[in-house]
Amino acid sequence: MAKQEDVFKKLISHAKEYGFIFPSSEIYDGLSAIYDYGQNGAELKSNIKQYWWKAMVQMNENIVGIDSAIFMHPTIWKASGHVDAFNDPLIDNKDSKKRFRADVLLEDYCAKLEEKAQKEIEKAAKRFGDAFDKNEFETTNGRVIEYREKQKTILSRMAKSLENEDLADVKALIEELEIADPDTGSKNWTDVRQFNLMFGTKLGASADSATDLYLRPETAQGIFVNFLNVQKTSRHKLPFGIAQIGKAFRNEIVARQFIFRMREFEQMEMQFFVPPGTELSFYEEWKQKRLNWHLALGLGADNYKFHDHEKLAHYANAAADIEFKFPFGFKELEGIHSRTDFDLKAHEKFSGRKLQYFDSERNENYIPYVVETSVGLDRLFLAIFSNSLKEEVLDDGSERTVLSLPPALAPVKAAILPLMKKDGLAEYGEKIFNDLKFDFNMIYEDKDSIGKRYRRQDAIGTPFCITIDHDTLTDHTVTLRDRDTMQQERVPVADLRRIIDEKTNFRNLLSKI
Ligand code: GAP
Repeated sequence: MAKQEDVFKKLISHAKEYGFIFPSSEIYDGLSAIYDYGQNGAELKSNIKQYWWKAMVQMNENIVGIDSAIFMHPTIWKASGHVDAFNDPLIDNKDSKKRFRADVLLEDYCAKLEEKAQKEIEKAAKRFGDAFDKNEFETTNGRVIEYREKQKTILSRMAKSLENEDLADVKALIEELEIADPDTGSKNWTDVRQFNLMFGTKLGASADSATDLYLRPETAQGIFVNFLNVQKTSRHKLPFGIAQIGKAFRNEIVARQFIFRMREFEQMEMQFFVPPGTELSFYEEWKQKRLNWHLALGLGADNYKFHDHEKLAHYANAAADIEFKFPFGFKELEGIHSRTDFDLKAHEKFSGRKLQYFDSERNENYIPYVVETSVGLDRLFLAIFSNSLKEEVLDDGSERTVLSLPPALAPVKAAILPLMKKDGLAEYGEKIFNDLKFDFNMIYEDKDSIGKRYRRQDAIGTPFCITIDHDTLTDHTVTLRDRDTMQQERVPVADLRRIIDEKTNFRNLLSKI
């Protein structure tokens, strides 16, 4: 088995073993691509949400947050284009009976070409050592150029065929490249068909009078349809933004890679409403701001890159993804889109209500343009979790698993660990717990050896362990162990609040943005 697969398997089992993520409905054999967050996962997720909400709403005077309903009027999805165009091209393998996304088969083929190009580059880097000029090699090496040209040709032909609804050509491309079912090697494919990703449901008691509804496939439309409500009640002038965190649902054809692509997931979206003509400069500004927000987490600048879209959706005049280096390669983490006035205009047309803004400086009414930032909460969880999970070999040759989460995001900020239960150590520990619980999420544990307890806290990413021993009873100091350095120092109990706060406060992240 490939090393990368091993790492990913380990990550999934760590997430389960330590109460981060469980397969949903597990005792009934689970439900594909649906997951439950356990006690530590729920805390980590809630902290990620707080980081986003604070950075968007609290730190920006001109951004407010809402919480709109999941059920929305069905015409909204007609207006937004989701009923007609929120499709994925699917293809079945006639032998294995497995279903695939035709575009993903082609993209995976291109990713393999890119892997080959990277291997050539790595080989050359080794050969030339310090004298290696990566840029020169990439632009002159015949093989690298050939791999990259081929990718470009495939992707642009696919994009053109999908745009023209020429699904026969998408199939022809798969056949020409001799792409096989990755599991069975069979090349016996059906035609390519379009498949709408929205989940349908019904509102109402009786079958004949019930209204057909959809579970929202994005949170953004809840913001668009409330644009005027928020603008009028908040009295914000343009430019201003509306942020929202909430569930979205997509009937993904191929849902794999754990929580990377789920059927029920959460989005954190912000729509920034701006005067027409100014959208592209705000788009550039938000691209940079969002990248800075990610970088402040400290997961490593090399793990992020922009992917500017060449082919734009019909409603956008600029779009880019922030990609992150997941264990299975660089993939989309967040989208930043300049959505023009497409959505508000469509809702004006379909609802018959005016969705215009009066600009007192320009002395005119208009439909605002929109710059959107949209990040998947679960995908961000996976990015942070996968980057933080480390196996370390210690000086004495022993190993430890540590989840070096950014301290502000750690599910538990400190563990209170009396060396033993007796002699009043447990009571002292409980006293510290009861004092600090107003400020921090903590754990109290008095079972097992102290070494075992440290390891358990390392595995869930707890920044501090506080050990209470007999000296504590007289000198009111404790041993404070740092998760990352494993160094231990003696500190007064009275200083604990300050020390924990200094390390775990959201200010540490927010001030870096
Ligand atoms: N309102 C714009 C929008 O929804 P999108 O690119 O379809 O754009 C935005 O989705 C983000 O939502 C993605 O960058 C990704 O992080 C997340 N996302 C999309 N589909 C997902 C899925 N099936 N599972 C988990 N996250 C998903």
